[in-house]
Amino acid sequence: MKQNFIFAFALLATLLMVNAAPYQLDKRTIKFGKCPGEDGKLPLLDVTVSPDPLEKGKDFNVTVSGPLTVDIPENSMDWIRFFDKDYNPISFFNFYGDFCYDQRHDIKCPVKAGTKFSTVLTGVFAPDGDVAATAAHLRVLIQDTNPEPDVDIACTMSEKIVLV
Ligand SMILES: *[C@@H]1O[C@H](CO)[C@@H](O)[C@H](O)[C@H]1NC(C)=O
Repeated sequence: MKQNFIFAFALLATLLMVNAAPYQLDKRTIKFGKCPGEDGKLPLLDVTVSPDPLEKGKDFNVTVSGPLTVDIPENSMDWIRFFDKDYNPISFFNFYGDFCYDQRHDIKCPVKAGTKFSTVLTGVFAPDGDVAATAAHLRVLIQDTNPEPDVDIACTMSEKIVLV
C-alpha cells in the first residue's frame, strides 16, 4: 500500500513537471517576428536572448537557430541592432560578427537550406541610461557579403521590448 502511494506520488510529480515545461516556454518574454519593410519578405531566424528580459547596460547572448529556406554562404555576417519605437536604428548599439567564424564549432558554412543549426552570438550589450528608455526593438540580421553590395538573407525583429 505504501509503495503504491509512493508510486502515485512520483507519477503526480512527473505530471506536474510535464505541465510546467510549456509554462516555462511561455515565460520567454521577448517574441520575435518579421522585420519591417523589404526585409519582412526574408526567411525568419529563430532567436532567443539570454537574459530575457534584457538588462540595461548588460551583456547578453543571442541564440540564432534554423533551418532556413536559403543557404547561409561563407563570408556571411550577423548584425544585432537596437531600434526605437518608430523602427529607427539607435546609433552605436549595432554589433556585427563573422557568422561563419572558424572557431564557431557548432556551425560550418555554407549552412545549406533546410539544415538545422543553432549558434550563440556573444559580445553584445544593451544600452543604459537615457538610451535604454528609447530601445524598443532588437533586430537580428544575416547578410551575405559575397555580392557587392551586401545582400540581406535572413532577418527577425522583436516585438516591443522594455529593458529592465
Ligand atoms: C553567454 O555565453 C557564454 C558562453 O557560453 C557564457 O560564458 C556567458 O555567461 C553567457 N552570457 C550570458 C549573459 O548569458
